[in-house]
Amino acid sequence: MASRLRLGVLVSGRGSNLEAILGAIAAGRLAAETRVVVSDRADAPALTRARAAGVPVVILDPGSRPARLDARADQQLLEALRAHQVELVVLAGFMRILSTAVLEAVASPMINIHPSLLPAFPGLDAPRQALDYGAQVTGCTVHFVDPGAVDGGAIIAQRAVPVHAGDTRDQLADRILQEEHRLLVDVLGWFAARRVVRTGRRVHIRDQAGGSGSGMQAAGAAAGE
Ligand code: GRF
Repeated sequence: MASRLRLGVLVSGRGSNLEAILGAIAAGRLAAETRVVVSDRADAPALTRARAAGVPVVILDPGSRPARLDARADQQLLEALRAHQVELVVLAGFMRILSTAVLEAVASPMINIHPSLLPAFPGLDAPRQALDYGAQVTGCTVHFVDPGAVDGGAIIAQRAVPVHAGDTRDQLADRILQEEHRLLVDVLGWFAARRVVRTGRRVHIRDQAGGSGSGMQAAGAAAGE
C-alpha cells in the first residue's frame, strides 16, 4: 500500500476546510497525514483546530505588506515545509499571495481552493461577486497554484452550486462552503492515490487501477509542471 500523503496546510482564518481534511483523515476516508499547519495570523481559529488534532503549527511573521509575505516569512514557510517533509501543499483560506520565488522553491505541488467556478470571480469575496453579477450558477474550484495571475493556476476539479432567488451573500457562501469541503477531500484522495496527472494546463484524473510505482510517476508529473 502506498504511504500516506504528507500534507502541509496553509491557513489564515476559520479553518473549516482544514477541519474537513482532519475529519476525513480521522474517519479513515483519506490516506493522508497533516504534517504541519502554517498560518500568517497567530489568532486564526484554524490553529485551534490544528492544535486540537495534535498537528504542529508554524506561525509566520508576515511583515508589513498586507497581501504578501516578506522575504523572511518566505524562508520561514519554505523551512517549515521542508522540515515536515511535505509532499503536497494545500492553501485552505490562506490570504496572502505567494511570491514567484516561493512557488519556484517549493519542491511539492501546491493547490488552492476557491469559492467560484474559475476563471469567473477570482480574488476576494467570490460569493458576493457572483451575487452582484447575477450569476445563477457558481461553485468551487481546486486548482494548482502557479506563478502569474491570482487564482489562475491549472484547474484540477470544480463543482457547481446553484444561486437561489433571494440568497444572501452568507447563505450562498455557506452552500458553496459545504461543497468545498467535499471537493477538497475528494481531490486530496486523488493525490493520495497518485491519480493526478498534469499536462500543461490540462489535468487528468487517471483510473484507480495501477500500482504505487506508476502512481508516483503521476504525482511527479504534477509536481514537475
Ligand atoms: C473558503 O471559502 C476558501 O474557498 C477560500 O477561503 C475560505 C476559507 O474558509 N479560499 P475556511 O478557513 O477553510 O473555513
